[in-house]
Amino acid sequence: MRVEQLTCAIGAELVGVKLADAIHDAGLFAEIRAALLKHRVLFLRGQDITRAEHVAFARLFGELEDHPVAGSDPDHPGLVRIYKNPEQPNDRYENAWHADATWRVAPPFGCVLRCVECPPVGGDTMWANMVLAYENLPDHIKSQIAGLRARHSIEASFGAAMPIDKRLALKAQFPDAEHPVVRTHPETGEKVLFVNAFTTHFTNFHTPQRVRFGQDANPGAGLLLSYLISQASIPEYQVRWRWQPDSVAIWDNRSTQHYAVMDYPPCHRKMERAGIIGDTTF
Ligand code: SIN
Repeated sequence: MRVEQLTCAIGAELVGVKLADAIHDAGLFAEIRAALLKHRVLFLRGQDITRAEHVAFARLFGELEDHPVAGSDPDHPGLVRIYKNPEQPNDRYENAWHADATWRVAPPFGCVLRCVECPPVGGDTMWANMVLAYENLPDHIKSQIAGLRARHSIEASFGAAMPIDKRLALKAQFPDAEHPVVRTHPETGEKVLFVNAFTTHFTNFHTPQRVRFGQDANPGAGLLLSYLISQASIPEYQVRWRWQPDSVAIWDNRSTQHYAVMDYPPCHRKMERAGIIGDTTF
């Protein structure tokens, strides 16, 4: 296996490897896992694998989870279908910088995404290194956000366009989660900037140190959160991947964010994503 770094910040392409082989080769899988921790997102071309192989490979990292709004392949639980077609022009949830499902108490460890069908041009996906994004923050911002926590909501994102009864039912099933604004990567110990498009507000900003009178409300909190969320959009932290059928991306959802560029309507784009359950170590 050759590992070809794609940018100075994030991402590497694995060349000369078949994911189907890794299912039965613990040594090869260990090499891929180590490369994932180092490069945060890995890319492969020409992975003509079956859905069963896709799921079996992703299961090497851990158990898989379905998505409460996007459906899964009926024969392969845990293999979420991200299918776009010209009839769904407003279905745009992937074109915002996000880490997957941070509205869960235990957001995913990572994902294995395979392209089934893509437009002739467009429909790329971008990833950003959120360890670098944290490292490069000005010192006064680092001090300001140390110890801050924030709310992440499926209700305010996937639920927002639903009729109210459906939205409330979704929220009852997945109450908003709270996470530290700066998490510690459970395997590498790195600090990660952990707010994204699912983040609605800080939960412990309104303290006597920051607020003199109730009238002050949360001075600057909204601006600070917007500033932090905007860091993923800095090109120096990013890699951009052009899809072909049977291309695969594997990412560490704990240290990255991604953005699926929706510049291809009225074309079809079909992706299948195996999301690996994460833990609550922050
Ligand atoms: C996702 O947001 O998890 C999917 C990304 C993509 O469809 O490229």
